[in-house]
Amino acid sequence: MKPIAETLSALRGQLIPVLDIREPEQAAAVAGVLAGAGATVLELTLRSPQAWRCLDAIRDAYPELVVGVGSVLEESQLRQAAQRKLPFAVSPGLSEQLVRSAQAMHMPLIPGVATASEVLNARLLGLRLVKLFPAELLGGIALLRALAGPLADMQFFPSGGINESNYRDYLAQANVFCVGASWLAPASDIEQSDRDAIRRRAEGAYGSC
Ligand code: 3PG
Repeated sequence: MKPIAETLSALRGQLIPVLDIREPEQAAAVAGVLAGAGATVLELTLRSPQAWRCLDAIRDAYPELVVGVGSVLEESQLRQAAQRKLPFAVSPGLSEQLVRSAQAMHMPLIPGVATASEVLNARLLGLRLVKLFPAELLGGIALLRALAGPLADMQFFPSGGINESNYRDYLAQANVFCVGASWLAPASDIEQSDRDAIRRRAEGAYGSC
């Protein structure tokens, strides 16, 4: 079993598409477009009953991609992620119960934080990487800079409001480990099978990463 820090190192410096996909065939096709443009890490949100089948379809078709799950709210989801040996799971908020369950399963969990108190609580639970969510609404880069002083050894995975005009600025922050965003492959394009739009955005973003 790899140490968690080693598993998470695949995420370092990455722009990570956050996906909400409801059809396994769509999932594999969208993952292929994103991988073809240069994405190496994907976050598939668990927002529909079909999400696990979509995840399995992506992993079967593109085993080289690092695919984790997002919108994790329950221990049962962590258990499924651990059974699949997924590289990471992301939750929108910080729950001590979920963090301790993940640690017991050796499942790398990146919980969401919105305040210095939550960052501190995550640190006291032994974590050094947290999701900043919803990043832009919370203060974005100004907040990350403010947190860097007192919480200097914490790293962040901001998401929420990140797009083509600000992702480079986020990735340039010393305490930003990686960023997540749905703008590359929004649910509307996925539903309409508009893969050209997804390809254009992804090629624009990964071509300049
Ligand atoms: C999410 O959980 O939906 C992500 O944080 C993505 O946010 P975005 O849609 O603002 O990119």
